[in-house]
Amino acid sequence: MTNIIAIDGPAASGKGTLARRLAKALGYAYMDTGALYRAVGFEVLQAAGRDPENEADALAGCVALAAKLGGAIGTLALANPELRSEECGDAASKVAAIQSVRDALLDIQRDFAANPGEGYKGAVLDGRDVGTIVCPNAPLKLYITASLEIRAERRMKELQLKGKLVTKGAVLEDMRARDARDKARAAAPLRAAEDAIVIDTSELNADQVLETALEYAKKAFLLS
Ligand code: DC
Repeated sequence: MTNIIAIDGPAASGKGTLARRLAKALGYAYMDTGALYRAVGFEVLQAAGRDPENEADALAGCVALAAKLGGAIGTLALANPELRSEECGDAASKVAAIQSVRDALLDIQRDFAANPGEGYKGAVLDGRDVGTIVCPNAPLKLYITASLEIRAERRMKELQLKGKLVTKGAVLEDMRARDARDKARAAAPLRAAEDAIVIDTSELNADQVLETALEYAKKAFLLS
């Protein structure tokens, strides 16, 4: 079995930064599963008159995305900087609540975990349900979290760096709403797997989080 590291957690918890750095440090391939949901949300927003909360419209978004995946265009589709916008994040969180959309994206994620590609010794996937649904047998599962206040502050700084004028109150409210939607939905709600190691990053910087995770990876995969 491939060395798989499943990393889940709420928005702006630091899981994406950790997953990327951990994959690089270990020579593992990396998949940001949220980018798949964002890309579906993007396809829905691109098509005039479609609604990300409508199942047929969201599935049409999956079909449009699937046509792009699997080659260089697919890599570009998932790296599109427009996916990082708040609008795409919001649409992603809506399509992600639809079970048939989750089913449509499941095989792509599992295939990646099982076949991370030539030269990679394993795979790191981050998202909301990697440890619970996508890769329930992953030998290492991390659940990365931080207080709502801290996460809102991080997100606000990120947005300000992009030149967006936002208030902390608005970011906090938006994040609270997205957390509630991700946790309360019937389809694969955000939660830590029972065997996940929980890391609270509220008081840690990115280097400290990486160091902590590397220690766990060394133990899980007997790396020296
Ligand atoms: O991590 P992110 O902000 O890029 O994720 C965007 C949305 O996609 C988020 O609201 C939750 C959803 N998502 C999901 O439901 N399952 C995943 N494995 C990854 C993301």
